[in-house]
Order: sequence, then structure tokens, then C-alpha cells
Amino acid sequence: MNTETYTPPRDASRLDGRVAIVTGAGSRTPEIGNGRAAAILLARRGAAVLLIDMQFEAAEQTRKMIEAEGGRALALQADVSRSIDCENAVRTAVAQWGRVDILVNNVGVGGPVQNAVDVDPEEWEAALRINVTSMMLMAKYAIPEMRRVGAGAIVNIASVAGLLGGTPSLLYPTSKGAVVNMTRAMAAHHGVEGIRVNCVAPGMVYTPMVATRMTPEAREERRQRSLLQTEGSGWDVGHAVAYLASDEARWVTGVVLPVDAGATAGQVKSPTLSPDKAARTA
Ligand SMILES: NC(=O)c1ccc[n+]([C@@H]2O[C@H](COP(=O)([O-])OP(=O)(O)OC[C@H]3O[C@@H](n4cnc5c(N)ncnc54)[C@H](O)[C@@H]3O)[C@@H](O)[C@H]2O)c1
Repeated sequence: MNTETYTPPRDASRLDGRVAIVTGAGSRTPEIGNGRAAAILLARRGAAVLLIDMQFEAAEQTRKMIEAEGGRALALQADVSRSIDCENAVRTAVAQWGRVDILVNNVGVGGPVQNAVDVDPEEWEAALRINVTSMMLMAKYAIPEMRRVGAGAIVNIASVAGLLGGTPSLLYPTSKGAVVNMTRAMAAHHGVEGIRVNCVAPGMVYTPMVATRMTPEAREERRQRSLLQTEGSGWDVGHAVAYLASDEARWVTGVVLPVDAGATAGQVKSPTLSPDKAARTA
């Protein structure tokens, strides 16, 4: 029997000397998306971060934000739905810093919004490739590097939509549900190698992606329906990512961590909703 006891380092949150790759690390506006927040928080903990985004300028903006705080980062243009780009991204991290310790699979798109009858099968395939296949591809090239180090942490970004149905789209909840169970399956494959694989399932946090789609009224109604009566942001997601990537989570693998102000636990009936409307949101 192994009776070895664990003595934590002084600060297990630190990531000094570690190298992280964050996909979708840009943001479509100068504001904070989930990937940008995660990248900044990993860098604050001491990691060097490779910032991947299809839009180079967006990743560059994140690099400037990190370097302005004294952190280390490099921006790379890549489309994570392309195997060659994923391989090149991992090679770039190794060429720059010699190793890969952390992979944050953050890229995800809304995709087609229709149901099974109406959805275009080609749009369906393309979105599945971006939301699910890309995470396998990044892991395919990052895991051998983690094996060389003898440890690693992968954090996949799913969504509460992957835990519940009830959205007009069939693609988004299906793909995010796949991310949830891919996390568990990968955790089971690679735990013995010291590689932890976890998943964050954000609720509707206020990121640039949401800002373009939501009226102020819908925003307020959503806030009032949350158990914490507070709006979430990319930072809330980023903090969860940073925890799961660090040694604070050294005994955590295969989990799905909702960051959703309790949305998957229950709903408050908003006092501003009419009884009729409240019944319809139940
Ligand atoms: N915003 C929310 O409320 C919310 C809720 C649940 C889950 N999520 C998930 O969080 C993740 C990030 O969301 P966000 O709101 O920060 O998104 P965002 O659209 O603001 O940022 C995502 C970034 O990914 C990049 N990107 C898109 N496709 C890419 C590709 N093929 N290759 C490389 N880069 C690509 C975009 O250029 C963009 O900069 C997604 O997986 C999303 O599904 C978001």
C-alpha cells in the first residue's frame, strides 16, 4: 500500500516554469472573452502562454495585455479545425519554450441554430469539427509533449448547454455534450500518465459573443433569474480554468465544473416577471 502523504508547496496556484496553450485566446472586441481571460490569468500565475486564434490581431491584443502586466506570451494565427495548424501550434510552443504543460481547449462556435429537420448537414459537420474535433486534434499533438514532461493538465470549455437541452439549436448542446463526455473519456485514458483532463461548463457569461446578441432587457432578466442575482464574465470562467490547470487541482480529473451562478442547480422566479411569463420559463 502506498502510504506516501502529500505536503503542498507554499503556493500550489503558481505556474512558474509551465507552458500553456490557449485556443481562441483572442476576442472579437477589445473586451474579455473566456479564452482571453483564461490566458491572462494563467500568465499572472507565471505560465508562458501560446495564444492561438484564427484572427491574429485578436491574439496579438491578448499578448499585449499580458506583456503590459509583465507576463510572457506569444500570439499565433491558427485554425484549430485544421490538423496541420494544431500540430504547428504545439511545435511552436515547444520551439519557443521547450515544453507543453497545459492545454486550454476554448474555441467554440454557436453553429447552425436549427433543429434536426431544418439544419444543413454541411453546416452541422463544419461546426462539429470546430467544437469537438478541434479539441481531439489539439490533444493529439499536446499529449505526447505532456508525456515527455511526465504530467499535464487539459481544460476543455463546454457549456451548461451541454448538460441540458432546451435551446433552439440542436448543434450547440450536442457538441458541448460531446465535450463533456470526451473530457471523462480522455481523463480515463491519460490519468495513469499524470495528465489530468477536466472541463468547465460556463453559463451565459457576458462576453463579446453574447454582447452582440443580447438586449439590455434580456440581460437584466437573465441576471435576476440566476441564483446569485449577478452577471458572470469571462473572468469567472478564467478563474475556474486557472484552478483546474494548477496543482491546486492535482487530485481532480474528469470533472465537469459548471460556472453558471447555479443555473444547472435551479432557477429563481424573477420578481419582475409576470406570473404567466415566469411559468413559461420554468
Ligand atoms: N460566452 C458565453 O456565455 C459562453 C457560455 C458557455 C460556453 N461558452 C464557450 O466558451 C468558449 C469561448 O467563448 P467566448 O464567448 O469567449 O467566444 P468568443 O467568440 O468571444 O471568442 C472565441 C475566439 O475563438 C476564435 N476562434 C473561433 N473559431 C476558431 C478556430 N476555428 N480556430 C481558432 N480560433 C477560433 C475567435 O476568433 C475568437 O477570438 C466557447 O467554447 C463557447 O462555446 C461561452
